[in-house]
Amino acid sequence: MHLADILFTQGFGTRRVCAGLIEQGLVGVYRDGSVQADVAYAQSAPDLQTEGLRFQVQGVDWAYHARAYVLLNKPAGYECSHKPGAWPSVYTLLPSALRLRPNKNAIQGVQAVGRLDQDTTGALLLSDDGQFIHRLSSPKHHVPKLYQVICKHPVDATQVAKLLDGVVLDDSPKPVRAAACAQTGELALDLTLTEGKYHQVKRMLAAVGNRVEGLHRARIGSLDLGGLPSGQWRWLSAPELAMLHTGQVAQG
Ligand code: URA
Repeated sequence: MHLADILFTQGFGTRRVCAGLIEQGLVGVYRDGSVQADVAYAQSAPDLQTEGLRFQVQGVDWAYHARAYVLLNKPAGYECSHKPGAWPSVYTLLPSALRLRPNKNAIQGVQAVGRLDQDTTGALLLSDDGQFIHRLSSPKHHVPKLYQVICKHPVDATQVAKLLDGVVLDDSPKPVRAAACAQTGELALDLTLTEGKYHQVKRMLAAVGNRVEGLHRARIGSLDLGGLPSGQWRWLSAPELAMLHTGQVAQG
C-alpha cells in the first residue's frame, strides 16, 4: 500500500486529504521506534510494509493497526449511541481517527460491542471488526462480564441465592441467572453475567426487591481496566485479543 492509502485506512481522511498531509510535511513515518530516514521513500514506495509502522500526523502519534480493537473506561453521563438524546456520546471520547476509520460496512469508524447505560461506568469494547462485534455480542458467546453493583437497600443471602437460582424478567420466559454473585459489602455485590439483556443487572436486582444505585463493569472475560483512567481508552494487546477471539477467557 502507498503511504496515503495506509493513512486513509487509519482514519486520517480521504486518500486525497492524506496525500495533502504528506505533501505539506505534516506526516512523520517511524518504524520500530526510530524515524524512518527517508519519508520521500515512504511516500513513493508502492508497497510499504505496515508491520511495526508508526506515524505522527499533525502532531498525533499513531501506531498502524489493520483493525481497531480498543477498550474504553466509560464514565457516567455518556450514551453508547452515535445519536444520543440528552447526554454526550461515548464516541466523543475517542480520537477522530478511530471515529472516522473507513469501514466496508455502512457505519463508519469503531462501534461499541453492546451497550452500557448512560449512568453505568467501566469496561466497554469498541472495534471496527463487524464479525468480532457480532460474535462477542451474541448470546451464544457467553463471555462472562463482571459488574460491581451498589444497591439502594442492604443485600442479603436470600437475594444472592435468588440471583444465582434465576429470576424471571418480563421479556424472557426462561429465568435468567447470574453465573456468579458475591456480596462484597452491606450495599454492594459482584455479579457475573454471561448474557447481555437490556438493563439486565437493574432488572435482576429489581426482581429480587432491591434497586441499583451504582453500576460499574469491571471485567469482560479476563480483560480488566487495570489502571486505565475514567474517560480514557487504549488498544487491546495481542494476547488480550486472542483470548477474546478464541473465547478462552478466565471466568470473571
Ligand atoms: N445491566 C444494566 O442494567 N445496565 C448496564 O449498563 C449493563 C448491564
